[in-house]
Amino acid sequence: MTEYAFRAEGLVKRFGKTTALAGVDLAARPGSVLGVLGPNGAGKTTAVRILATLARPDGGTASVGGFDVVRQAARVRRLIGLTGQQSMVDDELSGRANLVLIGQLLDLRRTEAAARAGELLERFELTEAANRPVATYSGGMRRHLDLAACLVGRPRVVFLDEPSVGLDPGKREELWRMVRELTAEGTTVLLTTQYLEEADALADDIAVIDHGRVIAEGTPAELKRVVGGQAVSLRTTDPERSQAAAAVMERVAGRAPERTRQTLSVPVESDTAAWEMAAGLRERGISVTEFSLHLPGLDEVFFALTGTGRTSATPSAPVGTGTSPTNGTDPSPPVGPAPSDAGKETSA
Ligand SMILES: Nc1ncnc2c1ncn2[C@@H]1O[C@H](COP(=O)(O)OP(=O)(O)OP(=O)(O)O)[C@@H](O)[C@H]1O
Ligand SMILES: [Mg+2]
Repeated sequence: MTEYAFRAEGLVKRFGKTTALAGVDLAARPGSVLGVLGPNGAGKTTAVRILATLARPDGGTASVGGFDVVRQAARVRRLIGLTGQQSMVDDELSGRANLVLIGQLLDLRRTEAAARAGELLERFELTEAANRPVATYSGGMRRHLDLAACLVGRPRVVFLDEPSVGLDPGKREELWRMVRELTAEGTTVLLTTQYLEEADALADDIAVIDHGRVIAEGTPAELKRVVGGQAVSLRTTDPERSQAAAAVMERVAGRAPERTRQTLSVPVESDTAAWEMAAGLRERGISVTEFSLHLPGLDEVFFALTGTGRTSATPSAPVGTGTSPTNGTDPSPPVGPAPSDAGKETSA
């Protein structure tokens, strides 16, 4: 009886001079959703790739279903499904052919593979497009096919790396419903996302990663309490007014606001702070084009936790330069045969 569906302790991963993971601990109970949040380059994909046996840690340990991801990689692969940040399916094949092929690679008989493919195509509302080449699919359809591909082997643990990128709000809701169905069946899910809203909707627990470290963890409610209940944002087009407005916000909130283009935002303890800010702006005759009190977004969470917005990562930061990572080009040897397809990587 394993206590955790998966667990990582002190994971370290370096790429040359970049420390992608500097000692990361993650764990999830069976049937739960762990949301891993973090800005670009935080180390989310690296952590997922290690748990999915696609990359080897330089330090620390990780296990899935009690099996070590390095020493027992083959056992781990039988338990997992992975949807990568980049689509893994074959463009030239139809959606159906992709799923049948994966099923066969997982040692299903042809009829079983065909039945499983049909079932998943239906579940992901791809039946109509099933026999068309994937090249003709929309981004959202392709995303659905990726998910279907990762479920062919009925995995016990599913890794979803930013699964909702490129999905419209309707499709996103559908994805959330599907994730809930999976966990209701006892599947454990690790979900990386940039959206607090998504983590909020799905995750039982959240780990916030920044610069290769877990900087906060807890339930969504606990995490929100860290940043305070709400945030104030305002917009001014004039740089001078923006300076003056920032000073008012800082005086009331006790911390400098985060600046994204013309918008300033800062977490506040209660709505009283918003009224004080509004009064302060009015007293000084600072006019603004927008002013709002709202629940904190991921930007505010990060800002409160790290003091840096995700748009302001500097090259002097220890890791993560804010440039997009080069996923799928891990120079270290994969533990098993180099997989060309994460979906195919799983087995029944
Ligand atoms: N194969 C690689 N070779 C070199 N550097 C890498 C490689 N993979 C990741 N990195 C670096 O490691 C750091 C963490 O990258 P990772 O892809 O894990 O971040 P992430 O949190 O998934 O980011 P994003 O939100 O952009 O997907 C980044 O600085 C990235 O450039
Ligand atoms: Mg990533």
